[in-house]
Amino acid sequence: MSLTIAPLLIGGIKVWPPIVLAPMSGVTNRTMRALYKPFGFGLTVTEFVSSNALEYGNRRTMEMIDQHGVEKPVSTQLWGNDPATMAYAAKVVRECGADIVDINFGCPAPKVTKTEGGSACLRDPERCEAIMEAVVRAVDCPVTMKMRLGWSEDRLVFVDVARRAQRVGIAAVTLHARTAKQFYKGSASWERIAELKRAVDIPVIGNGDLADPHDTLERMRESGVDAVMIGRAALGNPWLVSGLRALMEGREPQPWPPASERLRFAVHHYETMVTELGESRAVPQMRKHLGWYLKGFFAAAELRERLMRVEGAREALAILEQTIERLSGAPALAVA
Ligand SMILES: Cc1cc2nc3c(=O)[nH]c(=O)nc-3n(C[C@H](O)[C@H](O)[C@H](O)COP(=O)(O)O)c2cc1C
Repeated sequence: MSLTIAPLLIGGIKVWPPIVLAPMSGVTNRTMRALYKPFGFGLTVTEFVSSNALEYGNRRTMEMIDQHGVEKPVSTQLWGNDPATMAYAAKVVRECGADIVDINFGCPAPKVTKTEGGSACLRDPERCEAIMEAVVRAVDCPVTMKMRLGWSEDRLVFVDVARRAQRVGIAAVTLHARTAKQFYKGSASWERIAELKRAVDIPVIGNGDLADPHDTLERMRESGVDAVMIGRAALGNPWLVSGLRALMEGREPQPWPPASERLRFAVHHYETMVTELGESRAVPQMRKHLGWYLKGFFAAAELRERLMRVEGAREALAILEQTIERLSGAPALAVA
């Protein structure tokens, strides 16, 4: 397969490799973004942040837009339904260091859509345009937008909304190729991502169900997208992205790391979360991450169960260290 990969250009910002870590609420905090970026993400995106909450400047919200610096460039994602509030929020996040402001027209969660935010905006493409225009005018950095195909299969608006985006100066568009009503059911339609790429001149970032480096390159080739965004498959498995990066740079991917090495990285993740967030917040968050790190491990069920029960970081880390010791030197056990 011959495919020349170029950097993704978002306004004046050059993104290499053209692999974006998907924004994931409750997951892609600054610790995670900083830990995962070196594996080969050219760009990371914050969890989505409510534009209304930014108006009130609440402490947790300000933390969500905070950065390490090492994970730059950072795109900060905003959601809301009001052009003026979104413009105000964009100015705040820009002042707080966002390199790119991303607008969320994709979230299907009822708590967001019932206020006409996220994917509910796609029910009204004119309002999408007004929001995008207001945000583009408010800040001196590139503005991007992430959307789904439309609210429902009979209301597919992705081409319409992307053309509006292009008209008002949006610098790149990401398409998670499902409808809002689908949530995560079915599969992402890469044919529709290809259709979008043909319909606009601004860069298109394709998203949905990418889980293997070779398949991802094939998707890029078939659809012609400028970049790919990877979410769930990278959770607990950032080595997927190292493999993809290697392919993009014309190298063979390294063999899958042995189980002990994967757990060693999970320990590092755990310790960093405790240092940065404090134990009481890190422990429940790390339960999710450990579940992901253990995916595909031989006999992981029992280990997972023990780890889910622990109350403190010290106990969890001791279990992980014992497991690493047992596994050390053993060949890769992962079968994911
Ligand atoms: C736990 C979780 C949280 C998410 N939060 C956000 C979010 O805050 N903003 C957003 O645009 N998309 C969010 N998404 C959607 C992802 O960014 C991505 O579009 C989706 O998971 C499809 O990509 P994937 O198949 O590579 O996971 C979230 C997805 C998950 C699984």
